[in-house]
Amino acid sequence: MIRLIQLETCESTNDEAWKHLPETTLVVTKRQTRGRGRQGRSWSDDEGNIMASLAITPPENLGDGLMWVPIAAGVSAAEAIELLSLKAAPSAALDGLRLKWPNDLMWEGSKMGGILCESRFSGDKISGIVIGIGLNLKTAPQLSDMATAALFEKVDALTQSKDDVRGRLLGVWADRVEYWLAELEAKRVEQLRKTWLRFAKLEKFPEFRVHDRNGNTLKLRALDLDSSGRLKAEGTGSKIVYLDQPG
Ligand code: BTN
Repeated sequence: MIRLIQLETCESTNDEAWKHLPETTLVVTKRQTRGRGRQGRSWSDDEGNIMASLAITPPENLGDGLMWVPIAAGVSAAEAIELLSLKAAPSAALDGLRLKWPNDLMWEGSKMGGILCESRFSGDKISGIVIGIGLNLKTAPQLSDMATAALFEKVDALTQSKDDVRGRLLGVWADRVEYWLAELEAKRVEQLRKTWLRFAKLEKFPEFRVHDRNGNTLKLRALDLDSSGRLKAEGTGSKIVYLDQPG
Protein backbone atom coordinates (compact mmCIF):
# COMPACT_ATOMS: atom_id res chain seq x y z
CA MET A 1 0.00 0.00 0.00
CA ILE A 2 1.34 3.39 -0.98
CA ARG A 3 0.07 6.35 1.01
CA LEU A 4 -0.74 9.40 -1.16
CA ILE A 5 -0.18 12.97 0.03
CA GLN A 6 -1.38 15.73 -2.30
CA LEU A 7 -0.11 19.25 -1.69
CA GLU A 8 -0.88 22.61 -3.27
CA THR A 9 2.66 23.85 -2.75
CA CYS A 10 5.89 22.93 -0.97
CA GLU A 11 9.60 23.69 -1.23
CA SER A 12 10.54 20.26 -2.58
CA THR A 13 8.52 17.04 -2.64
CA ASN A 14 11.75 15.16 -1.86
CA ASP A 15 11.98 17.01 1.49
CA GLU A 16 8.30 16.36 2.19
CA ALA A 17 8.61 12.67 1.33
CA TRP A 18 11.44 12.14 3.85
CA LYS A 19 9.05 13.15 6.65
CA HIS A 20 6.79 10.14 6.02
CA LEU A 21 9.23 7.26 6.21
CA PRO A 22 9.09 4.42 7.20
CA GLU A 23 5.64 4.42 5.55
CA THR A 24 5.84 4.06 1.75
CA THR A 25 4.49 7.43 0.63
CA LEU A 26 3.97 9.28 -2.64
CA VAL A 27 3.98 13.06 -2.25
CA VAL A 28 2.57 15.07 -5.15
CA THR A 29 2.43 18.84 -5.42
CA LYS A 30 1.09 21.46 -7.82
CA ARG A 31 3.89 23.92 -7.13
CA GLN A 32 7.42 23.69 -5.78
CA THR A 33 9.31 26.74 -4.60
CA ARG A 34 12.74 25.11 -4.27
CA GLY A 35 12.66 22.08 -6.54
CA ARG A 36 16.09 20.60 -7.02
CA GLY A 37 17.62 18.55 -9.76
CA ARG A 38 20.71 16.39 -9.97
CA GLN A 39 24.19 17.82 -9.56
CA GLY A 40 23.06 20.82 -7.55
CA ARG A 41 20.83 22.22 -10.28
CA SER A 42 17.40 23.70 -9.57
CA TRP A 43 14.24 22.29 -11.12
CA SER A 44 11.70 24.53 -12.78
CA ASP A 45 8.19 24.18 -11.35
CA ASP A 46 5.87 25.12 -14.18
CA GLU A 47 2.29 24.48 -13.06
CA GLY A 48 0.59 21.59 -14.80
CA ASN A 49 3.75 19.48 -14.83
CA ILE A 50 4.41 16.47 -12.63
CA MET A 51 6.39 17.01 -9.44
CA ALA A 52 6.31 14.07 -7.04
CA SER A 53 8.46 11.97 -4.74
CA LEU A 54 8.20 8.40 -3.56
CA ALA A 55 9.59 7.54 -0.13
CA ILE A 56 10.51 3.90 0.37
CA THR A 57 12.07 1.81 3.08
CA PRO A 58 14.34 -0.34 0.94
CA PRO A 59 14.36 -4.11 1.15
CA GLU A 60 16.77 -5.39 3.87
CA ASN A 61 19.07 -7.11 1.41
CA LEU A 62 19.08 -4.57 -1.41
CA GLY A 63 22.87 -4.34 -1.12
CA ASP A 64 24.55 -3.37 -4.40
CA GLY A 65 21.10 -3.17 -5.99
CA LEU A 66 21.06 0.41 -4.62
CA MET A 67 23.18 1.45 -7.61
CA TRP A 68 20.39 0.32 -9.91
CA VAL A 69 17.61 2.25 -8.16
CA PRO A 70 18.09 5.47 -10.21
CA ILE A 71 18.04 3.38 -13.39
CA ALA A 72 14.91 1.55 -12.20
CA ALA A 73 13.17 4.87 -11.46
CA GLY A 74 13.85 6.16 -14.99
CA VAL A 75 12.81 2.90 -16.62
CA SER A 76 9.59 2.93 -14.57
CA ALA A 77 8.76 6.42 -15.81
CA ALA A 78 9.37 5.45 -19.44
CA GLU A 79 7.23 2.33 -18.95
CA ALA A 80 4.40 4.41 -17.45
CA ILE A 81 4.49 6.87 -20.37
CA GLU A 82 4.56 4.03 -22.89
CA LEU A 83 1.72 2.11 -21.24
CA LEU A 84 -0.64 5.07 -20.94
CA SER A 85 0.16 6.42 -24.40
CA LEU A 86 -0.53 3.07 -26.04
CA LYS A 87 -3.70 2.70 -24.00
CA ALA A 88 -4.88 6.12 -25.19
CA ALA A 89 -3.93 5.36 -28.82
CA PRO A 90 -2.57 1.90 -29.70
CA SER A 91 -0.81 3.41 -32.73
CA ALA A 92 0.76 6.32 -30.79
CA ALA A 93 4.18 7.16 -32.23
CA LEU A 94 6.67 6.91 -29.38
CA ASP A 95 9.90 6.79 -31.40
CA GLY A 96 11.09 9.98 -29.73
CA LEU A 97 10.66 8.66 -26.19
CA ARG A 98 13.96 7.58 -24.72
CA LEU A 99 16.14 7.45 -21.63
CA LYS A 100 19.48 9.17 -21.45
CA TRP A 101 21.87 7.61 -18.97
CA PRO A 102 21.25 7.26 -16.17
CA ASN A 103 17.62 8.35 -16.04
CA ASP A 104 16.83 11.52 -17.97
CA LEU A 105 13.50 11.28 -19.76
CA MET A 106 14.02 12.60 -23.26
CA TRP A 107 12.03 13.24 -26.37
CA GLU A 108 14.73 12.75 -29.02
CA GLY A 109 17.37 15.34 -28.03
CA SER A 110 15.18 17.35 -25.64
CA LYS A 111 14.84 16.80 -21.92
CA MET A 112 11.29 16.02 -20.83
CA GLY A 113 11.86 14.92 -17.26
CA GLY A 114 14.34 13.82 -14.65
CA ILE A 115 14.77 11.79 -11.51
CA LEU A 116 16.47 12.76 -8.26
CA CYS A 117 17.28 9.81 -5.97
CA GLU A 118 18.42 10.37 -2.41
CA SER A 119 19.31 7.74 0.17
CA ARG A 120 20.02 7.78 3.89
CA PHE A 121 22.03 5.30 5.89
CA SER A 122 21.94 4.11 9.45
CA GLY A 123 25.47 2.83 9.95
CA ASP A 124 26.21 0.88 6.79
CA LYS A 125 22.55 -0.06 6.27
CA ILE A 126 20.30 1.91 3.87
CA SER A 127 17.44 3.21 5.99
CA GLY A 128 15.45 5.09 3.37
CA ILE A 129 15.26 6.11 -0.27
CA VAL A 130 13.39 9.05 -1.75
CA ILE A 131 12.91 9.13 -5.50
CA GLY A 132 11.74 12.45 -6.93
CA ILE A 133 10.35 12.75 -10.44
CA GLY A 134 9.82 15.89 -12.45
CA LEU A 135 8.04 15.41 -15.77
CA ASN A 136 7.09 18.18 -18.18
CA LEU A 137 3.51 17.34 -19.07
CA LYS A 138 2.10 20.64 -20.30
CA THR A 139 4.99 23.08 -20.43
CA ALA A 140 8.61 22.77 -21.39
CA PRO A 141 10.62 25.32 -19.38
CA GLN A 142 12.87 27.62 -21.42
CA LEU A 143 16.44 26.81 -20.39
CA SER A 144 19.54 28.48 -21.78
CA ASP A 145 21.71 25.37 -21.71
CA MET A 146 19.41 22.59 -22.88
CA ALA A 147 16.57 21.83 -25.23
CA THR A 148 13.36 20.82 -23.45
CA ALA A 149 10.11 19.12 -24.41
CA ALA A 150 6.68 18.50 -22.89
CA LEU A 151 4.91 15.13 -23.13
CA PHE A 152 1.48 16.52 -24.07
CA GLU A 153 3.02 18.35 -27.04
CA LYS A 154 4.49 15.08 -28.29
CA VAL A 155 1.74 12.54 -27.64
CA ASP A 156 -1.58 14.08 -28.68
CA ALA A 157 -3.59 11.07 -27.58
CA LEU A 158 -2.69 11.74 -23.95
CA THR A 159 -4.23 15.22 -23.97
CA GLN A 160 -7.47 13.77 -25.27
CA SER A 161 -7.51 10.81 -22.89
CA LYS A 162 -10.44 10.62 -20.51
CA ASP A 163 -8.15 9.10 -17.89
CA ASP A 164 -6.61 11.21 -15.16
CA VAL A 165 -3.28 11.06 -16.99
CA ARG A 166 -1.25 12.70 -14.24
CA GLY A 167 -2.63 10.39 -11.52
CA ARG A 168 -2.36 7.28 -13.70
CA LEU A 169 1.21 8.07 -14.77
CA LEU A 170 2.28 8.43 -11.16
CA GLY A 171 0.37 5.32 -10.07
CA VAL A 172 1.95 3.15 -12.77
CA TRP A 173 5.37 4.71 -12.12
CA ALA A 174 5.22 3.94 -8.38
CA ASP A 175 4.00 0.37 -9.04
CA ARG A 176 6.84 -0.24 -11.49
CA VAL A 177 9.41 1.17 -9.05
CA GLU A 178 8.14 -1.32 -6.46
CA TYR A 179 8.32 -4.13 -9.03
CA TRP A 180 11.93 -3.31 -9.95
CA LEU A 181 12.94 -3.00 -6.29
CA ALA A 182 11.66 -6.54 -5.72
CA GLU A 183 13.71 -7.68 -8.72
CA LEU A 184 16.81 -5.97 -7.31
CA GLU A 185 16.17 -7.57 -3.92
CA ALA A 186 16.16 -10.94 -5.71
CA LYS A 187 19.50 -9.93 -7.32
CA ARG A 188 17.98 -9.93 -10.80
CA VAL A 189 19.30 -7.05 -12.91
CA GLU A 190 19.27 -8.52 -16.40
CA GLN A 191 15.65 -7.67 -17.24
CA LEU A 192 16.18 -4.15 -15.91
CA ARG A 193 19.35 -3.70 -17.99
CA LYS A 194 17.54 -4.90 -21.11
CA THR A 195 14.54 -2.66 -20.47
CA TRP A 196 16.83 0.33 -19.96
CA LEU A 197 18.57 -0.51 -23.26
CA ARG A 198 15.20 -0.77 -25.01
CA PHE A 199 14.34 2.77 -23.93
CA ALA A 200 17.87 4.17 -24.33
CA LYS A 201 17.75 3.40 -28.09
CA LEU A 202 21.54 3.60 -28.28
CA GLU A 203 21.58 2.53 -31.95
CA LYS A 204 19.77 5.78 -32.78
CA PHE A 205 21.15 8.02 -30.01
CA PRO A 206 24.67 6.71 -29.28
CA GLU A 207 26.35 10.03 -28.55
CA PHE A 208 27.03 10.88 -24.93
CA ARG A 209 28.95 13.95 -23.77
CA VAL A 210 30.90 14.32 -20.53
CA HIS A 211 33.14 17.04 -19.17
CA ASP A 212 36.65 16.14 -18.10
CA ARG A 213 38.45 17.70 -15.13
CA ASN A 214 39.60 20.64 -17.26
CA GLY A 215 36.07 21.42 -18.39
CA ASN A 216 36.61 20.04 -21.89
CA THR A 217 33.68 18.25 -23.49
CA LEU A 218 34.39 14.66 -24.49
CA LYS A 219 32.19 12.86 -26.98
CA LEU A 220 31.62 9.18 -26.19
CA ARG A 221 29.65 6.45 -27.87
CA ALA A 222 27.37 4.79 -25.30
CA LEU A 223 27.40 1.00 -25.61
CA ASP A 224 25.79 -0.71 -22.62
CA LEU A 225 25.38 -0.82 -18.84
CA ASP A 226 27.77 -2.89 -16.76
CA SER A 227 26.75 -5.05 -13.79
CA SER A 228 26.77 -2.01 -11.48
CA GLY A 229 24.65 0.23 -13.71
CA ARG A 230 27.70 2.16 -14.92
CA LEU A 231 27.66 3.37 -18.52
CA LYS A 232 30.03 1.46 -20.77
CA ALA A 233 31.12 3.76 -23.58
CA GLU A 234 33.71 4.06 -26.29
CA GLY A 235 35.94 7.12 -26.32
CA THR A 236 38.52 8.36 -28.80
CA GLY A 237 40.81 5.67 -30.16
CA SER A 238 38.17 3.02 -29.38
CA LYS A 239 39.09 3.24 -25.70
CA ILE A 240 36.39 1.67 -23.49
CA VAL A 241 35.44 3.70 -20.42
CA TYR A 242 33.00 3.08 -17.58
CA LEU A 243 31.18 6.08 -16.14
CA ASP A 244 29.95 6.12 -12.56
CA GLN A 245 26.48 7.54 -12.10
CA PRO A 246 26.59 11.27 -11.38
CA GLY A 247 25.23 12.33 -8.00
C1 BTN B 1 17.17 16.14 -12.80
O1 BTN B 1 18.03 16.98 -12.53
O2 BTN B 1 17.06 15.68 -13.94
C2 BTN B 1 16.27 15.62 -11.72
C3 BTN B 1 15.05 16.50 -11.52
C4 BTN B 1 14.14 16.03 -10.41
C5 BTN B 1 13.06 17.02 -10.13
C6 BTN B 1 12.03 16.48 -9.20
S1 BTN B 1 10.58 17.49 -9.12
C7 BTN B 1 10.00 16.56 -7.77
C8 BTN B 1 11.18 16.23 -6.88
N1 BTN B 1 11.41 17.29 -5.92
C9 BTN B 1 12.55 17.93 -6.14
O3 BTN B 1 13.00 18.89 -5.47
N2 BTN B 1 13.18 17.39 -7.20
C10 BTN B 1 12.44 16.27 -7.75
